Amino acid sequence: MAHYLVTGGAGFIGSHLVGRLVGQGHRVTVLDDLSSGRVEVLPRGVRLIVADTADAQAVSEAMAGVDGCFHLAAIASVQRSVEDWAGTHRVNLTGAITVFDAARKNRVPVVYASSAAIYGNQEVLPIAETALPAPRTAYGADKLGCELHARVAGLVHSVPSMGFRFFNVYGPGQDPSSPYSGVISVFIDRIRRGEPIVLHGDGYQTRDFIYVGDVVQHLIAGMGQASVEAPVLNVCTGQATSIRSVATLLRDIAGSAVDIRFAPERPGDIRASIGSPRRATDRLAVRADTPLAIGLTHTFQAV
Ligand code: NAD
Ligand code: UD1
Repeated sequence: MAHYLVTGGAGFIGSHLVGRLVGQGHRVTVLDDLSSGRVEVLPRGVRLIVADTADAQAVSEAMAGVDGCFHLAAIASVQRSVEDWAGTHRVNLTGAITVFDAARKNRVPVVYASSAAIYGNQEVLPIAETALPAPRTAYGADKLGCELHARVAGLVHSVPSMGFRFFNVYGPGQDPSSPYSGVISVFIDRIRRGEPIVLHGDGYQTRDFIYVGDVVQHLIAGMGQASVEAPVLNVCTGQATSIRSVATLLRDIAGSAVDIRFAPERPGDIRASIGSPRRATDRLAVRADTPLAIGLTHTFQAV
């Protein structure tokens, strides 16, 4: 049994990870400012520290005595980083550096969330980790910054880490309530209310959607493989789905005929996002094997 710190543990991916760790018998401390996370999702017995990841003292105290840190706290919305550049930077990069710095003082390995957003638009698909990063938004630039600082943490301060470039994660518990929420949670919410689905752009942009349970498997396997070389791995399925297809699949699952409407494309939006899972499969012996139709059905039924 180990003791883990999970930043952002009250959020969507974090709460699934915390549930799995507690189920495996581990002790868990969560550090979360509850800006989008909710206390109710935390299992009994989990210690919650309500604090900001940019608060060096709070993060260092939370990390004292833990065996590993999963750093997931961030403002996860790409669109919000377009609107609030400096504000999201403070959370998404300063927060991460604060976590690495505390890990250095406490000698703790860090598994952290990067993003497929670091790739921007690539010509060669599916995207492998060797592709040259080309972020198009502040969010993507800050996630790439996290990877560079993880490298510094390893090279200069001997902090072992493992970075995960999550592609588009979906599943039960993803909050649909903000205009910045993940597309699947937003579409499910619209369908439930009988309101039209809105496609930004022509709807033919693609994403590699991965079920949250598969992401949790990668995170847990990654903790055992953190190293001072600061490796980064894609977390994806290798399957591309257009936003239009997601809309129709969800309408079919729900037996709904809500309208599909169009709005302007989002600035900085990525056109085609599909990752190669090969390196993660080879290195961690895990595979994202939840088919989209099954994952969407679970998600729809869980709402
Ligand atoms: P989420 O918004 O559900 O969870 C983020 C959590 O972090 C929330 O509980 C929030 O309250 C907390 N938080 C935010 N700012 C904080 C701060 N300054 N201090 C402390 N806590 C703070 O988002 P999520 O979808 O669960 O994303 C988790 C991580 O995965 C993020 O780092 C995100 O960038 C990354 N990611 C998510 C996706 C996706 O598709 N959901 C894809 C790629 C990467
Ligand atoms: C998502 C994640 C981000 C992650 C990235 C990795 C969220 C909120 N964002 O960004 O954290 O790093 O994947 O690839 O989880 N769309 C519509 N209609 C809507 C909402 C969205 O057409 O009502 C479109 C968007 O324009 C975009 C696509 O759906 O083309 C996906 O949008 P979104 O779910 O916000 O995710 P990403 O921007 O890909």
